[in-house]
This record gives sequence, C-alpha cells and structure tokens, in this order.
Amino acid sequence: MSLSQLARCIKESATLKLNETASVLREKGEPIIHLGGGEPKSKAPMDAVINCTSLLNTGEIRYTAPDGIPALKKAIIRYTEEHYKKIVSAHNVIASGGAKQALMVLLHAILDPKEEVIFPAPYWVSYPEMVKLAGGVPVPVTAEDGSFCPTVKEITDVVSSYTKAIILNSPNNPSGAMYSKDFVQEMVEYCEKKSIYLIMDDIYNRLVFDGKSAPLCYDFAKMPLEQSKLVVINGVSKMYAMTGFRIGWAIANQFLIEAMATIQSQQTSGPSAPAQWAAVGALNGVQSSIESLRVTLENNRNVMMDRLKAFDGVRVHTPDGTFYCFPDFSAYMKDSQKLANLLLDKVRVVTVPGREFGFEGHLRLSYCGTIRDITEGLDRIKWALDPHSANELYLGDRKLVREWL
Ligand SMILES: Cc1ncc(COP(=O)(O)O)c(C=O)c1O
Repeated sequence: MSLSQLARCIKESATLKLNETASVLREKGEPIIHLGGGEPKSKAPMDAVINCTSLLNTGEIRYTAPDGIPALKKAIIRYTEEHYKKIVSAHNVIASGGAKQALMVLLHAILDPKEEVIFPAPYWVSYPEMVKLAGGVPVPVTAEDGSFCPTVKEITDVVSSYTKAIILNSPNNPSGAMYSKDFVQEMVEYCEKKSIYLIMDDIYNRLVFDGKSAPLCYDFAKMPLEQSKLVVINGVSKMYAMTGFRIGWAIANQFLIEAMATIQSQQTSGPSAPAQWAAVGALNGVQSSIESLRVTLENNRNVMMDRLKAFDGVRVHTPDGTFYCFPDFSAYMKDSQKLANLLLDKVRVVTVPGREFGFEGHLRLSYCGTIRDITEGLDRIKWALDPHSANELYLGDRKLVREWL
C-alpha cells in the first residue's frame, strides 16, 4: 500500500502506544502497574459533568463556531484575567480539541516548509512530530551540563534565519522541572526583540509543588498583544483531570487566532459541543479540585522520590510540578528502550523510555496513579535491577526468578 512521505516519517505517540499495550495486557489478566500514564486519576469536577449532561439532556447537540462557543471563550477570558492578570478579548481566544489541536493548528498557521521550531530537551514526545506534520523542522536543544534546562544562550545559539518559533513547556513533561523566572523573562524579551513566535505550553502550570508558582510569560511581555508573537497554550485536561473531554485553547493576537480558526474550521470544525460546555462548567465552577489534585500529586511525588532514594546509582532531580519524574537509570542500563521493555516484560511495570523525549538513559515515571501503584511499581523495578535484592518475587501467586542479571 502506498502512503505519503509524511505518513511514513511520523512516529506513533510512544505514550499513547504504551497506554494501549498496558490495557491489552490488563485485559488478559496481567498484573500491570502503569507508571507511564499522562492523566490524573481524579474525577472531572461536578460542575463540568452537570453542564455537559444539561446539554446532552436537550438532545440537541449541534455544530458550534469553529473557534469555540462564546460561553467558553468568556470563561477562558476570565481564567486568563484571574490567573495571568492579563486582559484579552474573544478575538484573542480559540478553543480546540485539546491543547494538542491548539498547538497543531498554531503550527499550521505559522510554519512555511523547512522553517524551524526550537524547544529544550527533554521535550514532550509530540513536539517533533507535530512540527514535522506542519512541514517544519524540529530543533531540540540539550543543555551541555546534562541538566533539564538549557541556558538562554544555548537556545539562542541555534536560532537561524529559518527559526520561526520556540516552544517552552514549564513545568515540563517529562522532567517535572520548572524554568526559572529569569529564564522565562529573558526568553520573552529575546523573542520580542527578534520577532520570533514564543509558544508557552502552560498545560501543567497550575500543578506546581513546594509553595512555588510558575513564572508567567505575560509578566515580562512589553509588546501589546495585537503586535505580539507570544502564544499561550492551555487546557482543561491536566488541571481539571478532564483528558477525555478534549478541550484546550490558545491565546494570541487576533490576526493569528483568525488564521488558526480558519484552519480548524477546515480540519475538524469547532470542538465537540458537550465537551465545550463541560469546560465552561469546570472553568466557571468550584475551583477546589485543582488544589486537591495538586496536593495529591505533591504527596505522590514525595512518595516516589523517597522510593527512588533506595536505588544505588539512580540520579533524580526532584520535580517542581506536573505528575512526572525523569530519573537517570543509565547506571543500570544505558538503552532506555531496552530497559523499559525489560521492566514491562519481566515485572509488568510500564515506564516510558527517555529516548522518546530526546534524553537517553532516563525513564519517565508518572506519579498520577495510586500510592500503591507508585510503591509497588518501584519495588518491582528495584527487584528487577538490583543484584542485591532477593532472587525471587511473587506477583500474586506467580513466582518470578531473576535470571537476567
Ligand atoms: C506538554 C504537553 N502539552 C500538551 C498536551 C496535550 O494536552 P491535551 O490533552 O489538552 O491535548 C500534553 C499532554 O500530555 C502535554 O504533556
């Protein structure tokens, strides 16, 4: 069968594939522990569910405007004012089928063939493929010192006449690291000066720990929004645990938003109406679920960090936010794909190989599951890798013997 060059060069999402593998194995009765997940386990806020079912109960579920219903735009405007202290108008907002679609239509709206998009490594698995889908060239930047945060200089050194945009995701998937205030400020100022699009993927910026808060790009922007190439991406998936609703948004200048809306109108039309009403409910409703999710995640992170300390040779940076941590397992195995395969194969623990995020030797471990998932998952990993642990392990009534070390 003949496929396009594009179809042949795009990689499947490693994380979505792992979810599929985990659920197939689980259906077969395998005692899977999923530390590869990218979604909180809490329920969607009741206000979201009520709003959504109210629309469903009318039985009249119609197309909406391609850039989102006015009520959702209004709720996003209010959220932006409350959270970012930034006043924006309806023409500065587009609602999409998840932050992922908002990013995709944005890239389609700004990239000409072969133009480059820079982002720090480790990066979200989808950035390189999304840039390629839009005809562009992904340019990941790895910090010389091995840290998760390249310096401004390291990033600006790769800027060329082909550079169209820089994407920053902070706190970051997969590392959980948050870029400093100085870094964000310098990047905002640099991109304004050089007239480069700066895309702030803020999807995790409410899920931050240890009393910190994420530096907000608008605090440093000097240009009026209508002349600015600053774009904020956000959505309900992570902060409200509403991944399945598929609602995200972008905030940008009117000209860009209109171009994105035209692309979206030809691509998928407006996002699903029930999901948009659910997002309105979440954004306008009782907000306590964000804080309770944040507290749960912080506690889970602490449990995971404690457990990881028991590993000889694993280096780990304490995550500032998100629900991921990104330990360096290269002391045990350098090839992260082989390591992840071994852990799934032998002890039925799902992890995501660092290679997928542009960082070999690491594994992404999620702490968005239960405490039992975290403790048992890490106990199994330790057993699989540590030659000093007992030679046998029971998974239920199945006896494992460690014959691979
Ligand atoms: C960094 C980052 N950006 C965007 C998204 C997409 O979020 P959504 O579910 O709203 O499409 C994700 C989801 O995993 C993510 O990790």
